[in-house]
Amino acid sequence: MSDHVAIAPDVKLGSNVKLSKFINLYGCEIGENTKLGAFVEVQKNAKIGKNCKISSHTFICEGVTIEDNVFIGHGVTFINDTYPRATSNGGRLQTETDWKVESTIVRRGASVGSGATILSRVTIGENAMVGAGSVVTKDVPPCAIVAGNPAKFIRFIDDGPGTDPADYTPPGHTLRWAGRSGAFGKR
Ligand SMILES: CC(C)(COP(=O)(O)OP(=O)(O)OC[C@H]1O[C@@H](n2cnc3c(N)ncnc32)[C@H](O)[C@@H]1OP(=O)(O)O)[C@@H](O)C(=O)NCCC(=O)NCCS
Repeated sequence: MSDHVAIAPDVKLGSNVKLSKFINLYGCEIGENTKLGAFVEVQKNAKIGKNCKISSHTFICEGVTIEDNVFIGHGVTFINDTYPRATSNGGRLQTETDWKVESTIVRRGASVGSGATILSRVTIGENAMVGAGSVVTKDVPPCAIVAGNPAKFIRFIDDGPGTDPADYTPPGHTLRWAGRSGAFGKR
């Protein structure tokens, strides 16, 4: 383990986790073999699976779950509060009791390009790929490539399982992704 890392006693680190310098971890869980670059912060109640690569300057906030084998590029920002405020009525600084954490899931094998911002309440599907600098506002289907602000569907990855979004919609889940052509349609 490197110098200049701040790891709170409540952090659960799997075996062989690799940490660069200037990392700040508290109340989170990091799976085995995962590698964290410099200046990464992971907040409490965030969970990162095994065999992930989290590149430098990325912020992973409370409410984020990253499954196994996920790549996160440099300077990726996650969000957990859609309508943030500094203060409550009356002007006192807000505390945790004043707002509710919103969750985000990055499914197994997905990749998120550098500089992307991932809004809360979205799921990035298995093996999906988010382009550099994207702002992801809706669910990303498995094996889809999306990019831009707001991120739009570009194509499915060639070695993906197929192109019918119905195949990717888990029971009881409404696919929120509209797609560039609106092909997915279910919102
Ligand atoms: C999105 C990405 C995966 C390429 O996917 P692709 O399917 O091969 O896309 P293409 O290069 O064929 O481009 C398709 C279209 O998307 C656009 N595009 C590609 N990447 C984009 C991005 N990050 N943001 C916005 N638009 C993008 C292209 O300009 C092109 O637009 P056009 O159809 O109007 O000409 C790649 O550009 C990317 O952003 N990768 C992430 C790299 C990264 O951050 N690595 C981190 C480690 S260094």
